[in-house]
Amino acid sequence: MKNKGLLLLFTFISLSAFPQKFEGLAETPPMGWNSWNTFATDINEQLVKDVADKFVELGLKDAGYEYIVLDDGWMAMERDENGDLVPHPEKFPNGMKAVADYVHSKGLKFGLYGDAGTKTCAGYPGNRGYEYQDAKKYAEWGIDFLKYDWCSTGKQNAEASYITMRDALYDAGRPVVLSICEWGDNEPWTWAEDVGHMWRVTGDIINCWDCEVGHGSWSSWGIWPIINMRGNIRKAAGPGHWNDYDMMEVGNGLTDAENRSHFAMWSILASPLIMGNDLRTASKETIKTLANKEVVAVNQDKLGLPGLRFSNEEDFEIWVKPLADGEWAMAFVNMAEEPRNLDFDWNRHQIGDDLNNRRLDVKNKKYKIRDLYNHKEIGDTGNNLKATIGSHDVLMVRLRE
Ligand code: GLA
Repeated sequence: MKNKGLLLLFTFISLSAFPQKFEGLAETPPMGWNSWNTFATDINEQLVKDVADKFVELGLKDAGYEYIVLDDGWMAMERDENGDLVPHPEKFPNGMKAVADYVHSKGLKFGLYGDAGTKTCAGYPGNRGYEYQDAKKYAEWGIDFLKYDWCSTGKQNAEASYITMRDALYDAGRPVVLSICEWGDNEPWTWAEDVGHMWRVTGDIINCWDCEVGHGSWSSWGIWPIINMRGNIRKAAGPGHWNDYDMMEVGNGLTDAENRSHFAMWSILASPLIMGNDLRTASKETIKTLANKEVVAVNQDKLGLPGLRFSNEEDFEIWVKPLADGEWAMAFVNMAEEPRNLDFDWNRHQIGDDLNNRRLDVKNKKYKIRDLYNHKEIGDTGNNLKATIGSHDVLMVRLRE
């Protein structure tokens, strides 16, 4: 009895004395929507409400999307006389608590954007020097997610800066997903496991299949440059801490085929699935892709192992992801400008994940193959997998015994 009391006391002291990351918030990659890709700083209360309504109406909530996150531009240009952050008075006339309340009333979660430096990337007040004060405000408003950016940080140390905000959030007491956004510059995959729940791995995404767009001192990157930019980072991610390949451009001008491939790849990579399109005007096909529960299930698999490239010979990018219970997901993306025929002989390929010691054992087992975009069984590994795949389209399958 006495020992139990001591143990409790010790646990209490250590939990309160050593701030830490909130655990258990992102056992699978976070799913949601962020305003930046489509709206930049042109955001307001009505938009958030519309998006929350659309989450429910379009079946996105049902598919697993949860967070609605306002990116840069939600603040007034100046802090108030107490040094508090103030929501932009015209964009958010009823304050942030009202917005958070609305989102919560739909059974969803609400997120905001901040910046570790003195100013955000769009020039609004940064959090530097105000971390504890701001974290309390977030908790008061009911914030569940914080995207924390890296502009105007001068010579600040990234790890220390993100730890300061982690500790401030913990101290404020409301569980918040901390989304680290320093573009991979300081290799967060080497230090952020106990700091944040996800970390951006590259500079900003842009809505093209395979391009780089320069902006003077920095560039934004299309889907494939983002996928290819970092080498060996898959081992860093897992339940609670994810490589973030940026907010998706699905529905933002790519072809339907490219949207399917983009979504398949973010799922295979176990990236957070953060939509970045206008849900009020999204096409049926775009929503069909984003709300595809079979593809989402690959992303949300409880093992939490990011996939790996199996091959990029000739015109196909072939990626594999080990799933729980010995199952596998695979994506065959046609990179060519014309349709291509796939003829994949299971016996000629050794599919495995050496890092995690997992193997697709087609010699001794026959796996059933399910097409995750067409929602049907398409044979088993006893025969070659044959399909015609359109330009930039994907055949995404799940293999189970
Ligand atoms: C940076 C981030 C983007 C977005 C903008 C906002 O560029 O990487 O995702 O948050 O800032 O200004």
